[in-house]
Amino acid sequence: MTTWITICDTCKREGWDSTGMDKTDGEQLAALVEARVNGSGALRTRRVSCLMGCTHGCNVAIQAADKLSYTLGNFTPDAESAHAIVDYATAHAASDSGQVPYRQWPQGVKGHFVTRHAPLPKE
Ligand code: FES
Repeated sequence: MTTWITICDTCKREGWDSTGMDKTDGEQLAALVEARVNGSGALRTRRVSCLMGCTHGCNVAIQAADKLSYTLGNFTPDAESAHAIVDYATAHAASDSGQVPYRQWPQGVKGHFVTRHAPLPKE
């Protein structure tokens, strides 16, 4: 089953305005995550504008149908963050419930979890 990584492409971390960068922090992180996923069978990516966690960007969501879903934030837009996000999403995809045992969490996602959502009930 596919796990989706949704990346907020409008996140700007504190101080972004003074960096002179033309891309937002979210756009930079999205590009790094997309390059890392690079056609992986179990993972897909998409960009959205705002996950309503603007005070703690960069933000991403990890989701799959009928599984626990998560939002994570406070990422810096760098390769280390992208690797950790993709490694975590890969473990999420391999899990039947979406719950990844703590011992399997990449170091780079620890301390970044913001919310967890239970799957919707079956009707
Ligand atoms: S701008 Fe990224 S969460 Fe609002």
